[in-house]
Amino acid sequence: MLKIVALISGGGSILKALLDACEENDFPARVVAVGSDTDAAGLEHAKKLGINTFIVRPRDFSSREEWGGALLAEIRSHGVGTSERGLIVSAGLMRILPGEFVAEAAPFLINTHPSLLPNFPGATAVADALAAGAKETGVTVHIVDSGVDTGPVIRQAKLEIHEGEAEAGLHERIKQLERPLLVDVVQEIATGKIDLKKINSSR
Ligand code: GRF
Repeated sequence: MLKIVALISGGGSILKALLDACEENDFPARVVAVGSDTDAAGLEHAKKLGINTFIVRPRDFSSREEWGGALLAEIRSHGVGTSERGLIVSAGLMRILPGEFVAEAAPFLINTHPSLLPNFPGATAVADALAAGAKETGVTVHIVDSGVDTGPVIRQAKLEIHEGEAEAGLHERIKQLERPLLVDVVQEIATGKIDLKKINSSR
């Protein structure tokens, strides 16, 4: 059984999809804790299921590196986050993880991002795709590296952008792809169908 610690910053609808999948008896992974950098509303999804939650706030630390160290220590207290032990899933964490954190957790650290990377990395991916007049966009699940949304791609799914579409509606349509895609990727990592080490070394 693959142990997961998920990290979020917001409403956690992507997290909820993963939690729901993990409730199925035959799903080969379990979320053992959910962490955040803030009082994220989505932590409630975990609390309702009796899953541990924790908050590690950047403002309580003098540097991003220190914050990352504390976050990793918290993750490790749940038995995840050392090389080859479990999987860290950034499912809407709106912070860049420091290099040392990434180096220690890689390649068992994945992120879901609402664009077809390498197009539109960063926190405003949906707005950026609209502003650029893109005809299509989508979602990317990737291994986190030390850059901003630059790590090796695991899976992508795309959709067409409708004429005159607003950001909120487009983001929700992207999330409709994002939820099952992340669940599929986690399942395939857990069963060994996706080999993160191999993907990481073949970039
Ligand atoms: C997702 O689109 C994720 O890729 C992005 O933030 C969104 C989180 O959505 N980084 P939610 O909070 O899970 O609804």
